[in-house]
Amino acid sequence: MTPPLVRVVRGDITQQAVDAIVNAASPQMRGGGGVDGAIHRAAGPGLLRENIERFPHGLPVGGAGWTTAHELPASWVIHTVGPVYGRGSRSQLVDAYANSLRVADELGAETVAFPLVSAGVYGWPRVDAIHAGFDGIAASGTSVREVILVTPTEEATHEVEAALWRVTPLRILQSMRVLHERGIENARLTAGMSPSGMYWRGSVWLGDREVVGYTTGNGPDVAGMDVTAATTPDALADHLLALHPDLTPERDPAYTQWYRELLALVEERYALPIAFADYFDATDGWEVGWGSGVRHPHPPE
Ligand code: APR
Repeated sequence: MTPPLVRVVRGDITQQAVDAIVNAASPQMRGGGGVDGAIHRAAGPGLLRENIERFPHGLPVGGAGWTTAHELPASWVIHTVGPVYGRGSRSQLVDAYANSLRVADELGAETVAFPLVSAGVYGWPRVDAIHAGFDGIAASGTSVREVILVTPTEEATHEVEAALWRVTPLRILQSMRVLHERGIENARLTAGMSPSGMYWRGSVWLGDREVVGYTTGNGPDVAGMDVTAATTPDALADHLLALHPDLTPERDPAYTQWYRELLALVEERYALPIAFADYFDATDGWEVGWGSGVRHPHPPE
């Protein structure tokens, strides 16, 4: 199955001529403010009537269900309920996306537009909400062809664009965790900035063999595979192992521990690790986010 294309559009989700738009609903599903209010206004009162009929008890957090789209240009509205920041969990936000796409698959929808679920009234920090959305899209295994994230503001659009750019290196880093978890603890990382400062470079090594030699100038191409927001770290790890069937797994608990801590910083900040760059003083270790001052000690030898 080809994973969907994920892209961003700045605009109003009610105007999208896609098969299905997703609504960031409340558990009661009786309308509200934000994107929910905009969708109910544009769809007309029939949408609320259908919600009451079909969802007398609403939906649980992380759940999803569909109605028709009434006066909207789309064919369906997929309603999902994101978690409230500070009360619900990130995995519920991931589920909101994955379950919405499962509903889209049941409907046979090929194009689906999402708002940034939970990133408004529900207070979820936007960059994490965007990446949780990516994780849900990747986890769903959907056959939807195109997922469009629709954001009304220029600032949010730029944040989604930046996250789309960053997600390929992030998936490489996460696939190394998968390799370690599968007992291939000799998978090692080198990472830094190109001399121009324009590109992040990351390599994954197995012994003296470079299995990934990536720069952000390559876009989504990682060792011949398109790695995007819709790719799971497991799928990339499978791809790398298929390319190197003869590799010998080795144990290296000190390194994997170091790497786990590095990746925790990366995933907390959505910032890439740097071991080298022009004018970079490596004395205090690696930096997570170039120029951030956040340091992680050098890996154990
Ligand atoms: N098109 C696209 N995105 C929109 C639109 C629109 N017309 N209107 C708002 N948004 C964006 C917001 O900028 C925000 O980034 O949708 C994102 C989600 O914000 P909310 O609509 O507040 O959704 P959420 O944070 O999940 O809160 C859901 O709010 O309206 C109530 O009934 C709803 O209780 C539920 C809660």
